[in-house]
Amino acid sequence: MALVSVDYLLAKAEEQGYAVGAFNCNNMEIVQAIVAAAEAEKSPVIIQASQGAIKYAGLNYIVKLVEVAAESVSVPVALHLDHGTDFQQVIKCIRYGFSSVMIDGSKLPLKENIALTKKVVEIASPLGISVEAELGKIGGTEDDITVSEREAMLTDPQEAKIFVEETGVGSLAVAIGTAHGPYKGKPELDFERLKKIRELVQIPIVLHGSSGVPDEDIRRAIELGVRKINIDTNIRQAFMQGVKDALAQKPDEIDPRKVLGPARERMTEIVREKIRLFGSSGKA
Ligand code: G3H
Ligand code: 13P
Ligand code: ZN
Repeated sequence: MALVSVDYLLAKAEEQGYAVGAFNCNNMEIVQAIVAAAEAEKSPVIIQASQGAIKYAGLNYIVKLVEVAAESVSVPVALHLDHGTDFQQVIKCIRYGFSSVMIDGSKLPLKENIALTKKVVEIASPLGISVEAELGKIGGTEDDITVSEREAMLTDPQEAKIFVEETGVGSLAVAIGTAHGPYKGKPELDFERLKKIRELVQIPIVLHGSSGVPDEDIRRAIELGVRKINIDTNIRQAFMQGVKDALAQKPDEIDPRKVLGPARERMTEIVREKIRLFGSSGKA
């Protein structure tokens, strides 16, 4: 199938009350693992690439890999830019074939985040490209912050309402206590805040930093309106564990396929588990 937009996938998820997994890719094996999992689960899927992934693999390679992957399966696939912070690059991604982009102005003052997001929406919307924005700051698990610093980073529901009205954005990434990377302890999600945001904001909500969030919290977040769930760290962990195990079994292995093949299978398994958890199995 040709690539579809994220908004198209999230509209269906909204109707039926499930979430679509958005899985980060950096190379061919990861892309293959994600579409294999989606095909096996008969699930829609979002493959996303960060600016770092684009720098590593090349913009053209990412687009072509994902296009080939999407054409080789029967389930709908979207290609999404993850945490795009640079206006020029966002436009370049659209030009190269991304079906969806994130403009992440979360580090900017509210007014500037609104202006930047609005500018992207004005260009992307007529082209049928969906736009995700971020309000509040989703940090990294390595960030050492106090309780009041954490509070200041979380999304303000009233601001979210204004932000969505003024920008016309398709989906909104919110900061409710998740963080990127492996968690040290158990993440504390602010479900009351999510509920309030949901009451004021009608568009699909995106959860970042979802690797390591307990299953019951993921289910609760979906009940409260989360429709796109980002997973990167769990895929990295599965990949590297697969590599380590293959090398532990045969330390002198010289054929990369014997190492990367089992690693790809591990990634497929974790993506399948997440798809089942998000409730999108059988929804393709
Ligand atoms: O949100 C961040 C994603 O996990 C991508 O990470 O920028 O290291 O590719 P990256
Ligand atoms: P994790 O690496 O914590 O799964 O977060 C992924 C993410 O939010 C990508 O935008
Ligand atoms: Zn993220």
